[in-house]
Amino acid sequence: MDKNTAQAAKTAANTELDVAFCRGHFPALGGDWVFLENAGGTLVPDQVIARLKQFTSDCQVQPGEGYPASDRGAARIAEGQAALAALINAEPGEIVIGPSTTGNVYVLSHALRPLLAPGDEIVVTNQDHEANNGAWRRLEATGIVLREWRMNAETEDLEIEDLLPLLGDKTKLVCFNHCSNIAGMFRDVKEIAAHVHEAGALVCVDGVAAVPHRRVDVKALDVDFYLYSPYKVFGPHLGVLYGRRDLLALLANQSHYFLAEDDHQRRLCPGGYNYELTAAAGGIAEYLDRVHAHHFPGANLETQARLDQVFELFAEHERKMAQRIEDYLNARADLRLVARGAAGRRERIGVFAFTVEGRDSGEIATRLKAGKIGLHADDFYAARCIDALGLRERGGVLRASLVHYNDAADVDRLLGQLEETLSS
Ligand SMILES: Cc1ncc(COP(=O)(O)O)c(C=O)c1O
Repeated sequence: MDKNTAQAAKTAANTELDVAFCRGHFPALGGDWVFLENAGGTLVPDQVIARLKQFTSDCQVQPGEGYPASDRGAARIAEGQAALAALINAEPGEIVIGPSTTGNVYVLSHALRPLLAPGDEIVVTNQDHEANNGAWRRLEATGIVLREWRMNAETEDLEIEDLLPLLGDKTKLVCFNHCSNIAGMFRDVKEIAAHVHEAGALVCVDGVAAVPHRRVDVKALDVDFYLYSPYKVFGPHLGVLYGRRDLLALLANQSHYFLAEDDHQRRLCPGGYNYELTAAAGGIAEYLDRVHAHHFPGANLETQARLDQVFELFAEHERKMAQRIEDYLNARADLRLVARGAAGRRERIGVFAFTVEGRDSGEIATRLKAGKIGLHADDFYAARCIDALGLRERGGVLRASLVHYNDAADVDRLLGQLEETLSS
């Protein structure tokens, strides 16, 4: 660690997130609702809104065609691409921007087919959101053998000891989440990837529920494919697929035959990507830089170091908010927090899925909404997870999910409203 980085790390350790400053950038936080459906999609800051308006009002033409509006558009799209890549420590040429994570996995599952032969095995989980599940399972029709990594009954989470026996000579790919949108536990992807690589297979990690909460570095994790959705990271409705460069080059073209071989963006996003939303995504970086400059004035750090610091501030703040919710949910005998048994094994992010003894989750959600608490009860498209946990007949799970802009008053309102609802 050089002197500047060491100094910056020291400053970060002594700095607390100025939540009011952050909240001031999100116009949708102005009302009297408490927003706790962040795992469904986060709110967007002024910077994202401004860039969307700027692009659509100033340069929504075919980009890169050598006239002023076109070149301005191309530059703004490139800024958005760079921001989306940097968020996970990738280069712009290593990501593919698509309509959604579901869409990106679908395309990836087709692009990988020529590399797979009948009898090859793919591991999927019974916990993941259907995005990193169904598209792989459908390859069974082509002779691929599917193996299921199942949640551990005690921890209600995925445990590595249950994966190891599934790995063998025929394993080609293991698909799992960095963090489940139901269990809310941040798993050790690097360790899992090391085991999978030792078996000669690749990993495809759904990072959608992880990226809004903790710093993600795809290089440090040593993943082959990693996906996230910017609309859950304070940005617009898009999906981002990271792929190792050598692997992207092996994937079969899913679009026009004449596209350049190294134009992974176009070859793996048939129909093209959304320019205005990609340009708007540049506002995520602009917002995060504003947060950095506010907390570390004068620090002259490169992008990755700034992101490290900002996400550490977010994580520290979120931990404090989350602890109060977790303590409350654990203290009441009539509440069942999903993956309670995994506590101590890994860190929970601010995502809490729970049920209430003898009550329908939908009914509780309706009452919370009547108290202006924005959350929901559902399976949240992790249908296999909810079924495996036996929670379908309970109306699914109630889910409260925090991000950095939720403050202590939000937690007070949630817990107060919950207490009132449970006692009536
Ligand atoms: C963990 C997780 N993975 C994947 C997805 C799907 O993302 P998208 O809507 O971009 O397809 C979601 C969306 O809720 C999610 O929570």
